[in-house]
Amino acid sequence: MKLIKDFLKYQAKTTPHPLSIEIKNAFGSHIVDSDNKKYLDFIAGVSVCNLGHSNPVVIKAIEKQIKKYMHVMVYGEFALEPSVKLSKEIVSKISKNLEVVFLTNSGTEAVEGSLKLAKRFTGRKEIIAAYNSYHGSTHGSLSTVGVTYMQEKFQPLLPMVNFINFNQDKDLYKISSNTACVILETIQGGAGFILPEKNFLKKVKKRCKEVGALLILDEIQPGFGRTGKLFGYQNYDVEPDILIFGKAFGGGLPIGGFCSSKKIMNSLSFDPKLGHISTFGGNPVISSASYAAIRELYDKKIMNKINSKEKLFRKYLKHPLIKKINGRGLMLALILQKSSIADYLVKDCLKNGLILFWLLWEKKAVRITPPLTIQNNQIKLGCQIILNTLNKYQSKFVN
Ligand SMILES: Cc1ncc(COP(=O)(O)O)c(C=O)c1O
Repeated sequence: MKLIKDFLKYQAKTTPHPLSIEIKNAFGSHIVDSDNKKYLDFIAGVSVCNLGHSNPVVIKAIEKQIKKYMHVMVYGEFALEPSVKLSKEIVSKISKNLEVVFLTNSGTEAVEGSLKLAKRFTGRKEIIAAYNSYHGSTHGSLSTVGVTYMQEKFQPLLPMVNFINFNQDKDLYKISSNTACVILETIQGGAGFILPEKNFLKKVKKRCKEVGALLILDEIQPGFGRTGKLFGYQNYDVEPDILIFGKAFGGGLPIGGFCSSKKIMNSLSFDPKLGHISTFGGNPVISSASYAAIRELYDKKIMNKINSKEKLFRKYLKHPLIKKINGRGLMLALILQKSSIADYLVKDCLKNGLILFWLLWEKKAVRITPPLTIQNNQIKLGCQIILNTLNKYQSKFVN
């Protein structure tokens, strides 16, 4: 209990009531607390631990690299084998127009770099984002978060950021020859795991092309296999001009990145040179982990099983209190009848050894984003805990 006390005393809080479990260790789909209570993890550190906790292949890669060298120079000056190999690997697996990678330390930093890149390349000032989006918490990325109450207390943010409704063709006219870029999540996360519909992303790209704006897709959450493809956009027959990734990219270590064509990305290296810089971006130890994580995704054919695992979740999770299940692959959101059920579900399941979590904006939602390596029997077990909890809620508060 001492750790919790010190955690609450010395570490800055993001909410008044953090879940506050004291972690002892974690492996595969499980997390163990300091009382040796074992939790089944349906969250994966919020879509980070796609290969499960403490993946041995990733650990081995980290250990090997640590013995050679760690930080030697700021990003972009020296050729470091792990970062070069990683960039080459990513580029080999995405659209042909995405030719170069800028490695960052986090998702929000990749968003910052992308917005700057679009402004620098197009010479334009307007940024268009979507209502109910989430792109990060630093000033630039927060400016593109489509939720006014999150921005109000931190104004002034970036000027000339305008918003469109996700999946609304009638808003496309707002993208004009003043627009530097349109930044969208491929699947809107905080809003409730909202999928793009009726070729929306394709239509945005077409409009961007017509007016000379760039399409930026934020794949920080769906990226690295969660939807059954390496990136979510690969399900939607669209090619972004800039692709952003993070979260699961590092196999559990902090890293982000953005990708574009050579021509576009080059504009960050002159007039002014050092247009975007980073001390730790492309850190060799993290890049080694990241490369190992991508190889593991492919070598173990992990993405091939995402579809059948999604089907299992959808088969088991039928209950009158669940209105619908949003999302795709292992990026699923239970939309409950009301927000108090979502609240009860997260807290009660935790007591019963299952980790669930909320979404940022959709308060009726509970996210299910387990490690992609989760086993079928673990899916069944976790879903049973969810159903039992919903039955308990029903008998306590509904009947
Ligand atoms: C879609 C999306 N964009 C950006 C971010 C910000 O990433 P980070 O927390 O690594 O800065 C997140 C994080 O949750 C995200 O889900």
